[in-house]
This record gives sequence, structure tokens and C-alpha cells, in this order.
Amino acid sequence: MADPWQECMDYCMEVTKQAGSMIREALQKDIVVMQKSSPVDLVTETDQRVEELIISSIKAMYPTHSFIGEESVAAGAPSILTDSPTWIIDPVDGTTNFVHRFPFVSVSIGFTVKKVIEFGIVYSAIEDKLYSARKGKGAFCNDVPIKVSGQEDITQSLVLTEMSFREDPEHFNIMMDNMKAVLNIPVHGIRTTGSAAVMMCFVASGAADAYYHIGIHCWDMAGGAAIVTEAGGVIIDISGGPFDLMSGRLIIASSQAVAERLANEITEFPCERDDTEVINDDPDQ
Ligand code: IPD
Repeated sequence: MADPWQECMDYCMEVTKQAGSMIREALQKDIVVMQKSSPVDLVTETDQRVEELIISSIKAMYPTHSFIGEESVAAGAPSILTDSPTWIIDPVDGTTNFVHRFPFVSVSIGFTVKKVIEFGIVYSAIEDKLYSARKGKGAFCNDVPIKVSGQEDITQSLVLTEMSFREDPEHFNIMMDNMKAVLNIPVHGIRTTGSAAVMMCFVASGAADAYYHIGIHCWDMAGGAAIVTEAGGVIIDISGGPFDLMSGRLIIASSQAVAERLANEITEFPCERDDTEVINDDPDQ
């Protein structure tokens, strides 16, 4: 039987490449920076224009599909995952990097049907690396198959995470203590790229062995989640339980052993879910 979503994925690859070109062009010009929820939560006209391009192009082809886009949600659109075919979009993942021209800036798109991720695409625009994965069909970078390192020993692992401002001093301390706990295992080191989607692709391609984060969003994770899973990686919740795309937190790793060891070391702190309302679209309940 023909794959019903492959055509959407092929189209998404084309739109993602156009979005990446728009980002590269914008980097040649002056960048006007605006603030969203805090002085470290930045947005630029490029984030908005790239999201507009992606959503309008996809809507023209698939008018009945649903969308969750970072900038649309910031402008008040709902962020609720339903059973409908849904495009989850981060137009510029790594906006702070973009503002500083730090070279990890990606376009991230995940596509879900009945809340299951069917494919993911992450385009690291400055590196010109297009990562993609279709459920059950493997993961690729610029059409070359990729896979996780397979590392099972946390003490031989390179770990990625994000170091970012937290308004609540208690949460800030827990975040710093988590880094100390991981470094003290010991691991080979901690790194960050400033783009969650790129970090997920680094684990997917074996350039790092794990990534953990509390306080991100479904649009940062959806594209990368498909890629890591198809590259043979493990994706779980910070608690060690099943991954939840709308939870704002995750651990990904090259193996179950590394993922579980990180879950044991990390102390949770509260972070906002992306879905503020529960939608029950199962007619039997
Ligand atoms: C950000 C990046 C960053 C992560 C932030 C995200 P954005 O995405 O993924 O790595 O630490 O939490 O918000 O805002 O640049 O799309």
C-alpha cells in the first residue's frame, strides 16, 4: 500500500530548504531583535517571516491539516495536539544563535497523525545539513543514513544540554546541580549548541551520546524526536517514564542504559506543558 504521508514529507523537505535559504539571506542583513516572555526569550522578524512561509506553503497544499508553530503560539494560537494531521514547526530553532550569528540555527518540523510522529525534518541552515526521518524507514543526513553511537557506558559519553536563564532561583540551582551531578559521574564532558533540534541530531548521528533538557517545547522536539528514534536512539521523559511530546522535557540517548542513568542523576523541576487544555477526541470516552 502506498505510504499516505510520504508526499507530505517530500513537500516538507522542499519547504524546509526554502526556509533555510531565507535564514541564510537574513544573516547577511541587519537583525532587529525583540523580546518575548523575558529578556533572554528573543524573536526576530525572520522567525515570523519563516514561519509564515512554512505555514502558508503547507496550508496551500494541505488546507485541512492543523498547525502548531512557535511564533503563532506566541501570538496567541492554541498549542493543542489532536488526532488531526498536525505540522509542529519551529521556524528558527536557535534564535539566540541567529541573533549572534553563532552557527547552529535550524528549521525543525515534525508531523503527527493521531498524536504519533510520522516524520521529522531538521535543517541546520548554516551547516547546510538536512536531517530527515520517516517512521520505520531510518534516519538520514543529506541523504546518507545516520545512526546513534550505541554507547552503553555513561562514563564514556559526551552529554549535551542547555544552560539558560531561569527566573526561579530554586529551578536555576537545580539546573546547575544537575550539570554538576552529570559531570561528577564522570562523563567525558557536557556541551551545548543552543539549538535543541541540532542537539537531537548530534545524538542521532553519533556526534554525542545523550541530551537532556527541562523547559523546552514541542516545536523544539518534534522533528528531532523522529530522527533520533529512527537512528536507533532512545527517548524518555526526565522521570524515566515514557516520552511525552507536550511535556516540555526529555532525555535522549544512544542506549537505554545511558538514558536511564541520566534519569537517575537528574532532579526534576516544574516546567510548563505546551497543551494548556486537555482535548479528548476519542468518541468512546
Ligand atoms: C530554543 C533552542 C534552545 C533551547 C530553548 C529553545 P528557539 O529554541 O532550542 O536550545 O534551550 O529552550 O527555546 O526559541 O530558538 O526556537
